[in-house]
Amino acid sequence: MRRLLVTAALPYANGPIHLGHLVEAIQTDIWVRFQKYSGNEAYFFCADDTHGTPIMIAAKKSGKTPEEFVSEIQRDHLRDFQGFQIQYDNYYSTNSPENKALSEQIYAAAKKKGNIDRKTIRQLYSEEDGMFLPDRFVKGTCPKCKSPDQYGDSCEVCGSTYSPNELIDPRSAISGAVPVLKDSEHLFFKLGDYQTFLEKWLTTGVSTGIKRKLDEWLKDGLRDWDISRDGPYFGFAIPGEKDKYFYVWLDAPVGYMASSKNFFDRTRKESWDSFWTKPGSEIHHFIGKDIVYFHTLFWPALLEAAGFQKPNQIHVHGFLTINGEKMSKSRGTLVRGSTYLKFLEPEALRYFYASKLGSGLDDMDLSREDFISRWNADVVGNITNIFSRLCGGIAPKLESRLGSLSTEGKALKKVALQTAAKATKFFEALEYAKAMREIAGLADSINRLIAEKEPWKLIKTDVEQARTVLTDALCSARILASLLKPVLPSFVQGVENLLNLKDELSLANLDFEFPVGHTIHPYRNLAGRIDEKEFDAMLEEEKKLSATQAVPAQPRKSSDKTQSADSEKSASKAKAAGATTAPGPDAKNKDTKPDGLISIDDLTRVQLRAGKILKAELVEGADKLLRIELDLGENEPRQVFAGIRAAYAPEDLTGLTVAAVANLLPRKMKFGISSAMLLASGEGAGLSLYVAHRSAKPGDLLK
Ligand code: MSP
Ligand code: ZN
Repeated sequence: MRRLLVTAALPYANGPIHLGHLVEAIQTDIWVRFQKYSGNEAYFFCADDTHGTPIMIAAKKSGKTPEEFVSEIQRDHLRDFQGFQIQYDNYYSTNSPENKALSEQIYAAAKKKGNIDRKTIRQLYSEEDGMFLPDRFVKGTCPKCKSPDQYGDSCEVCGSTYSPNELIDPRSAISGAVPVLKDSEHLFFKLGDYQTFLEKWLTTGVSTGIKRKLDEWLKDGLRDWDISRDGPYFGFAIPGEKDKYFYVWLDAPVGYMASSKNFFDRTRKESWDSFWTKPGSEIHHFIGKDIVYFHTLFWPALLEAAGFQKPNQIHVHGFLTINGEKMSKSRGTLVRGSTYLKFLEPEALRYFYASKLGSGLDDMDLSREDFISRWNADVVGNITNIFSRLCGGIAPKLESRLGSLSTEGKALKKVALQTAAKATKFFEALEYAKAMREIAGLADSINRLIAEKEPWKLIKTDVEQARTVLTDALCSARILASLLKPVLPSFVQGVENLLNLKDELSLANLDFEFPVGHTIHPYRNLAGRIDEKEFDAMLEEEKKLSATQAVPAQPRKSSDKTQSADSEKSASKAKAAGATTAPGPDAKNKDTKPDGLISIDDLTRVQLRAGKILKAELVEGADKLLRIELDLGENEPRQVFAGIRAAYAPEDLTGLTVAAVANLLPRKMKFGISSAMLLASGEGAGLSLYVAHRSAKPGDLLK
């Protein structure tokens, strides 16, 4: 059994999760689920990246403290990720005590080794704003082509890069004031001290393609990295320095460690540092191609300085485009996860990304036709069809009982197991598109068997032969479902229910036959077709949303060779979206469902969880409400306002474990934000909450 600690890059806490972030989240989630279902011990850790000037300024603009600002965004991020069934073991924050302590520890170790230098640099300072201006917070005329209104690091018109000091007529992008040049002492990490170490680590830590790119940097010699920023700055103060803070990119990757530490300390599953200080387990980071240098040079060097384990592998993916174009806010194609979920199935996106992803850096295009046809043709037409034809049409006429495998059934099962051997290799190697093609090929074979045998005719002439076809096909379809589970967990849950399986499907027990006489459950629809209209409606809605709400610009990270260049992204217009995006009209229109009935997928969209009431109190000025702190197994309890005051006294509630809807959009009420709903029936004093009968852990899913 392998032990794996897996991470996805930490999203910045200054804007909503969009479909680009979800490429990475879904790619990583599929891999972690694949490892877990294969019987390995795997953990998936992530967090929000909370520090830096852009976030500090965005918080100020919205009238919140940075702490309030980032904790609200963190909640929205987690909600959006959960909507796409991303199963983190912990989703934490870089603004945490664990992260502070670990960042200080790593810095102290590097300092002790003599890897830290001091240099005075000249930077634009705005008296008006009382701060040094990061590159993206300076605007002026391009020194090369003289285009006005360009950022301090590069020109969007002619594409040249320069230092903000070269800009003509520089202005602060925050206040418009004219900045002055001012000296400041900065701390630098001497990356060059780790040149030999990095040359060796890179031979195993990254793909050969990435290694080749990095060799360019290595052959010029590695330059010092500026790791300090002057106050005011939202971040961790550097010990022993006056008004100096760690640059956000120093403590951001440490957030991976901090998230794991927080999880293991809390759950006591094992010691957190067994992954980070001892060999024998694996560390895998999934990132986009824009942040390669941070993860393949600075991060391993810092870990080496402090004596920690290095990542086994940095997995790098390309970028998402929509309908052939770069995602852009003004065109409304920077689609938020929450907007997508108003119109389309989360698993359609999971399936689409899986069917496109390879292990390389290629960009991926989300086009309407492609997206719709993958789902409708593969998942509905090909895969769902197997189950609907057999379990819907045939099984009820056979008392839903299975028999034994025929020779042909055994041969098909062999094909299925061969497919599984190939597909699992592809999953491991992040060649998901190839795995999906294998799986689709198997579905074809199963459908072919059904078409050839025509069990709907046999049922009239030879019932036992019809039963054999049902058994042959379902035995292989069970293997197919197991292979699909990392990609479509809730679709496969539907199959598990249908097949009436005692144990959940996994990739560790593929070679299995149903006992003779096994009965299956009545067919319920597993997946419905999607319509182009829904895709268009999503883009429309996003356009409307981004016209009314400011969304921060796409991230910009310096990947040029000036390693002291500032790479914080502009977020001068950033504003939290989250709670203000009220759910729109339900645009789903599943034409395959009989009126009024819902599929198991619809049900699992509502997350019902056990919640423990930690505290209940009266709310001043509201005679119907109680304010409740509800433990849903997360880092922090959620606040809920429940209209149950007529039926319950606060002191009667503390300690009860109740049923709650955990993925309801947070609701802003007069007294604060309510971020879950308790289930109850009845009215007034006769109202009743639903309380767990036996021991139930906070956060447990009701199913
Ligand atoms: N906060 C840093 C990462 C710190 S990790 C210690 C950051 N945040 S980000 O929000 O800008 O991006 C998070 C991840 O999403 C990155 O890996 C980035 O490459 C990825 N993506 C952002 N937009 C993307 C697309 N359009 N397509 C695919 N991935 C994209 O960088
Ligand atoms: Zn220019």
